[in-house]
Amino acid sequence: MRIDVYTIFPGIFSSPLREGLLGKALQRGVVDIRVHDIRDYAQGKHRQVDDVPFGGGPGMVMKPEPIFEAVLNTLGYRWEELDRLKEEVRVILLTPRGRRLEQSWVKELAEEEHLALICGRYEGVDERVLEHLCTDALSVGDYVLSGGEFAALVVIDAVTRLVPGVVGNRESLQEESFSGGLLEYPQYTRPADYRGWKVPEVLLSGNHAAIAEWRAKKAREWTERQRPDLLGQRGSNEDPRENDPD
Ligand code: ADE
Repeated sequence: MRIDVYTIFPGIFSSPLREGLLGKALQRGVVDIRVHDIRDYAQGKHRQVDDVPFGGGPGMVMKPEPIFEAVLNTLGYRWEELDRLKEEVRVILLTPRGRRLEQSWVKELAEEEHLALICGRYEGVDERVLEHLCTDALSVGDYVLSGGEFAALVVIDAVTRLVPGVVGNRESLQEESFSGGLLEYPQYTRPADYRGWKVPEVLLSGNHAAIAEWRAKKAREWTERQRPDLLGQRGSNEDPRENDPD
């Protein structure tokens, strides 16, 4: 998989892309991630990447030209080929106005061959970028970050770990949170007794059926407590929103 990232702060990506699972995947060439500085494609002495909003209001808006130039130039498409670009590459704007990312969308993105992630900054990005260059607008959650860079890293991390060859043990992906519509059950490791805090007896029993049953029960209880909305989405007849007029 290839991922091209467009940002005015390329330095933000240096260490996250060097460390851990992601660093190893990049080193081994399983994923190819290229970070581009939008400012390199800006015009004029000051290489201006933002400007005041039409209609007034606070803050600055990212200009369209440097973003279009950066994407077209680095991916090797001409202006007349914008439609083909959007067919061949998933071009995603990171913005709190976007569709919220969840694991099902992560899985879909992991099947793509080529992603382009455009990091917005300041008060926003000229809407023509979204209209004419992007295939998607993506938010990592209902809160506002100072820019799309950390959101892009979230997407990169969540997506690349699903690319075959990145996570060594594929089994661990099947049991994790959200995979069955529930949050994951609690895990314990040695020591079995730490300062008198004991690991649940059943996990030491060697009885695989009993362990599976305990884990399913715990996953359900925990999800009920932390994320009752997920139980609703599974079509459960215990939907806590059942009495909600909405
Ligand atoms: N940029 C600022 N906030 C964001 C969010 N929540 N998701 C994606 N990009 C963002």
